[in-house]
Amino acid sequence: MAIVAPSLLAANFLKLEDECKMVNESEADWFHLDIMDGRFVPNISFGPMIVEFVRKTTKKVCDVHLMILDPGNYAQEFKNAGADNLSVHIEACPHLHRNIELIRSLGMKAGVAINPHTPVSDLNDVLHEIDLVCMMSVNPGFGGQKFIPHTLEKIKQLRKMISDRGLNVHIEIDGGVTVENAASIIAAGADVLVAGNTVFRSKDPKEIIRQLKQL
Ligand code: DX5
Ligand code: ZN
Repeated sequence: MAIVAPSLLAANFLKLEDECKMVNESEADWFHLDIMDGRFVPNISFGPMIVEFVRKTTKKVCDVHLMILDPGNYAQEFKNAGADNLSVHIEACPHLHRNIELIRSLGMKAGVAINPHTPVSDLNDVLHEIDLVCMMSVNPGFGGQKFIPHTLEKIKQLRKMISDRGLNVHIEIDGGVTVENAASIIAAGADVLVAGNTVFRSKDPKEIIRQLKQL
């Protein structure tokens, strides 16, 4: 059974309290929180303040995905806001190993996010130091995009790298996840499903979450 992480980016922010309540009452495991700076990605979303509000509503894992430059400068702030997992983009980190050490030293789980063009082999020398790979299955910056099918191949490669080395690293798939394609994503070896529009734009979000958990 996969971990299901609704992405709040697709929520109605005028009703954030209700949206958090829905997730809290659902079978979802994690809150996925997308932080965008308008520099690493073309869009701007929200900052630690929203993470702090969400944290107050929930005991579920707060899984924070930083799509920002210089993420190390903000790690402490997201820890203070209540992040459990903090993922940084490999493409934004010339000193990735240092960023990972910092995140772990602050007591958070460390994730590395990779864009669709980044080969999984780029993770070779940090895989044993991290808890999570956030594999982008769309180009980061916006919700509601179409799943890039080649991701399935990358999931298989990464799952093999992880199991060949006997590691315990989550493979989280982020972007364009639907009830229809989720089974193939899990079959390829992923164990965390991020879902934004699929959950929040449906008539019955809790039921969609339940269906994703059934797979
Ligand atoms: C995209 C974000 C995703 C996004 C997913 O840059 O990282 O987490 O919210 O949204 P959907 O599920 O709608 O593609
Ligand atoms: Zn994300």
